[in-house]
Amino acid sequence: MKSADLAVVNCEQLLTCRGQIPKRAVALQDVGLLEKACIASYKGKIIFLGEEKKFKKEVRLEEDGTYIDGTSLIALPGFVDSHTHLPFAGTREEELVLRLKGYSYQELAKKGLGIQTTVKATRQASKKDLLSLSLNRLDGMLLLGTTTAEAKSGYGLNLKDEIKQLETLEELNRVHPIDIVPTFMGAHEIPEEYKSRKNDYIELLIDKILPEVKEKNLAEFFDVFCEEGVFSVEETRKLVKAAKAAGLKIKIHADEFSSLGGAKLAAEEKATSADHLINITEEGIKELAKSQTAATLLPAVSFFLMHEKKAPARKLIEQGAIVALATDFNPGSSMTESMLFVLQLAVFSLKMSIEEAINAATANAAYALAKHEEVGSLGVGKKMDVVLWDVPNYPTLVYHLGINPLKHIIKNGKIVVQDGTIVVQEGKV
Ligand code: NIG
Ligand code: FE
Repeated sequence: MKSADLAVVNCEQLLTCRGQIPKRAVALQDVGLLEKACIASYKGKIIFLGEEKKFKKEVRLEEDGTYIDGTSLIALPGFVDSHTHLPFAGTREEELVLRLKGYSYQELAKKGLGIQTTVKATRQASKKDLLSLSLNRLDGMLLLGTTTAEAKSGYGLNLKDEIKQLETLEELNRVHPIDIVPTFMGAHEIPEEYKSRKNDYIELLIDKILPEVKEKNLAEFFDVFCEEGVFSVEETRKLVKAAKAAGLKIKIHADEFSSLGGAKLAAEEKATSADHLINITEEGIKELAKSQTAATLLPAVSFFLMHEKKAPARKLIEQGAIVALATDFNPGSSMTESMLFVLQLAVFSLKMSIEEAINAATANAAYALAKHEEVGSLGVGKKMDVVLWDVPNYPTLVYHLGINPLKHIIKNGKIVVQDGTIVVQEGKV
């Protein structure tokens, strides 16, 4: 008999998303479905999953343990949102209004709107402001099923304000149930004051800000916007090499608006992920497919910017790339915290199957953060991060649009959301 301190009994369907991770090609079709299943944990780790008969034989729930009735509920691993720009100040709804009048995102950036607007607001904000803004957003993410989230700096673009954003993330990770994976993205844009001397900014990033980030241990990943008018492939390579030498893992904003070759570079540099890929070339697809670098697709961006062009999810999957999904939550090109919405967009606009989308938002998303041994799938020894959805079967998560059927969340083996309401006080569970 194994002792459990929490058990969810008799779920209609339990999607484990386990198997060999990362998942490629046809393996993405397998969500590890168990019917009428139980899952139990002890001290935050899964100790059992399987059918009720076996559960009764093998597991003893401690007297003061938590029992959850899974009848008429569907259990999934918590979503892993592997790409967000969480700690920003200010919003940019006026840009949406201008885009509706015909201006493009890039035209607005040239007018000094775009990222620079958020940089100004974020520089002005105190750490306390950023903290309270981000806490609200994290609550929103949690209530839509995310239990692990990556979050980037990149709206400070100087030593003080990049550190401020990263220290905000450190504090958020202490006080919010969502596990936060911090990314240093000082190379998100060239700040106004360095516009005519980009090389000086690259030097500042490499010689001053990166060492400080490292010294204070504020980031696990380094990310860079490899894009026409921002950082070229060669500049990106230089930044990436410096970040790797400082011990950070790598992500690259690649081939978003132009086919610069960021995906190929990500594969060459063994980045953990290449993100966006709306304009990836055939060569880029081939290089990613044979690499260990995840191809993280952000379908909310094409939707939000009203672009006809979408990331070639089908081609990437068919050629064997490790496809993951994320929100890219940011105020300019994807104002959504919702992985549920991203799951739906992946199916309706990228033509992924429901199973592929679920694996891409869980198991492969965890791989895109190098956390697949802990989260993103349900198996003995992994974290008990489970979301219970009030739907009759898992395809309904995608089929029924515009509602939030989330019922309960168990994070680290503790109930943090009950009947759609957050029940923990501030503090890690
Ligand atoms: O991932 N592409 C660059 N950065 C963000 C947009 C940031 C912004 O508009 O504020 C993105 O799409
Ligand atoms: Fe982004």
